[in-house]
Amino acid sequence: MSGTPETTIDEVGDGIYRIHTPVPPEAMPGGFSFNQYLILDDAPLLFHTGYRGHFPGIRDAIARVTPVAGLRYIAFSHVEADECGALNDFLAIAPEAEPVCSQVAALVSVGDQSNRPPRALADGEALSLGRRRVRWIDAPHVPHAWECGYLFEETTRTLLCGDLFTQPGTGDAPVTEGDILGPSEAMRAQMDYFAHGPNTRAVIEKLAATEPTLLACMHGHAWRGDGRSLLLSLADTLERAAPPQADTARA
Ligand SMILES: [Fe+2]
Ligand SMILES: [Fe+2]
Repeated sequence: MSGTPETTIDEVGDGIYRIHTPVPPEAMPGGFSFNQYLILDDAPLLFHTGYRGHFPGIRDAIARVTPVAGLRYIAFSHVEADECGALNDFLAIAPEAEPVCSQVAALVSVGDQSNRPPRALADGEALSLGRRRVRWIDAPHVPHAWECGYLFEETTRTLLCGDLFTQPGTGDAPVTEGDILGPSEAMRAQMDYFAHGPNTRAVIEKLAATEPTLLACMHGHAWRGDGRSLLLSLADTLERAAPPQADTARA
């Protein structure tokens, strides 16, 4: 990404920080934004690394709340540059840090691309950070990538939901209780980032069953509210927008 965007850091839940890099409308029509999330505990975890081009700003933002060298886990949803492009940059400055990803991600990409072996989590597997735990949830192809998955932080009921509810604009407010489904559907109308696989509803229902109260979105605002209801609304909306393939084939 070009330019030197300003990266900010804000606490959006108890010990959960959103690291936010806006991309102005001059650089991307309508503007856009990239977020990483930091969970502070005995073993601090960073979810997403951001682009390599954004690394200095993201590193400096984290340093305002915790020493970057003390990061213990660098987790990410799937293998794309905004999710894990700066993985090796973080591993270079955080000697105890381990990549954390799905088993498929480790097998297919991360075991080769990472300068340190990843810790591959199985669906439902928990990882202790000290006082709190995160749990990995496999989400293949939702919204995209075979290796996709998310982390759920149990104490604050935060679902680190990656590209779900991707919103356009620079997403300046760290947290909103307003509508994010409408904006994310408007975004999807322009650029459909969903795979629309046959498992979409089942995966979203599995995520909804965690009953999150904070959705830590990667693009746009984080969202506070009844996450179960919002996720089920997303499943309904997707189904209305893209009928199952079998129906399409019959049509
Ligand atoms: Fe993605
Ligand atoms: Fe993303």
